[in-house]
Amino acid sequence: MTENNSDKILEVKHLNQFFNVGKADEVRAVNDVSFDIYRGETFGLVGESGSGKTTTGRAIIHLYEPTSGEIIYNGQNIDALKSRSQQQHFRRQMQMIFQDPYASLNPRMKVQDIVAEGIDINHLAQDKDDRNQQVAQLLETVGLNKDHASRYPHEFSGGQRQRIGIARALAVNPDFIICDEPISALDVSIQAQVVNLLKKLQKEKGLTYLFIAHDLSMVKYISDRIGVMHYGKMLEIASADEIYSHPLHDYTRSLLSAVPIPDPRLERAREEIAYDPAAESDGQKRELVEITPNHFVRAAPAEVAMYRERAAAK
Ligand SMILES: Nc1ncnc2c1ncn2[C@@H]1O[C@H](COP(=O)(O)OP(=O)(O)OP(=O)(O)O)[C@@H](O)[C@H]1O
Ligand SMILES: [Mg+2]
Repeated sequence: MTENNSDKILEVKHLNQFFNVGKADEVRAVNDVSFDIYRGETFGLVGESGSGKTTTGRAIIHLYEPTSGEIIYNGQNIDALKSRSQQQHFRRQMQMIFQDPYASLNPRMKVQDIVAEGIDINHLAQDKDDRNQQVAQLLETVGLNKDHASRYPHEFSGGQRQRIGIARALAVNPDFIICDEPISALDVSIQAQVVNLLKKLQKEKGLTYLFIAHDLSMVKYISDRIGVMHYGKMLEIASADEIYSHPLHDYTRSLLSAVPIPDPRLERAREEIAYDPAAESDGQKRELVEITPNHFVRAAPAEVAMYRERAAAK
């Protein structure tokens, strides 16, 4: 991938998102996180529950006011968007699909009104017919049909509800979609269908995804690059292949070692690696360091040589 700034659709720089600042229960949900997302790619964001993935997504789409740091979208700092029309334009380009397809759809709204929410807010339909037609088209795009438009969310299965959420996101023709664990609440048999739909839409519409997930096995299939988060910090960023074939950070290695291998011979030889988060509390200053080209690991200066050796030992 070329490292040209214009290829970057999103730049997150030193993002901090703290809650209850100054109180006893202060949470540093996102702590000095930086990463870039390239146009047309899928960036997988992985980490266990509470690591700060959703908060990162919500800060990017400006559902939160970041404590500090910069979010740059298409070369523009989104905090600097002053006029309402600029902000509205930005909101249209970036959409979010939510973790829980049961909670994210208003049960009292018909599917057509849920899907058309963005169309209505942004006045994207000429008249009622046009609106109906757009909704029918969107439902078809996500594998539902126009007869579903007049029904309510409770009449649909989890996978279908997630398709409604996808149609709602697509309604405003976004360039960038944050998919926050869009399949983790679904049956395993349905997960692949929704992932395949997202992949198909990406190809057809040139979409860029930030794809949030718990475990590495899920994001491997869909991601071009992967970032691994832990306790609000970004620990490692590399291409999906590189993360799987040459994980460098002990936490990433522990995540991978916990994934069972389908081959019984290999499975017997599998060694689980334990990661001790206390490794971070030794007072050394750590930041993401490029160990091999495009492979970044959060490291203290004294650890860089060790990671280079680890990478060379491939
Ligand atoms: N509005 C809030 N107020 C206070 N604390 C919050 C708020 N939102 C999130 N947190 C805390 O921030 C941390 C990160 O939460 P977040 O939801 O981003 O994690 P996550 O990685 O998305 O987890 P999961 O995989 O369970 O969805 C957690 O400790 C959470 O309790
Ligand atoms: Mg979450």
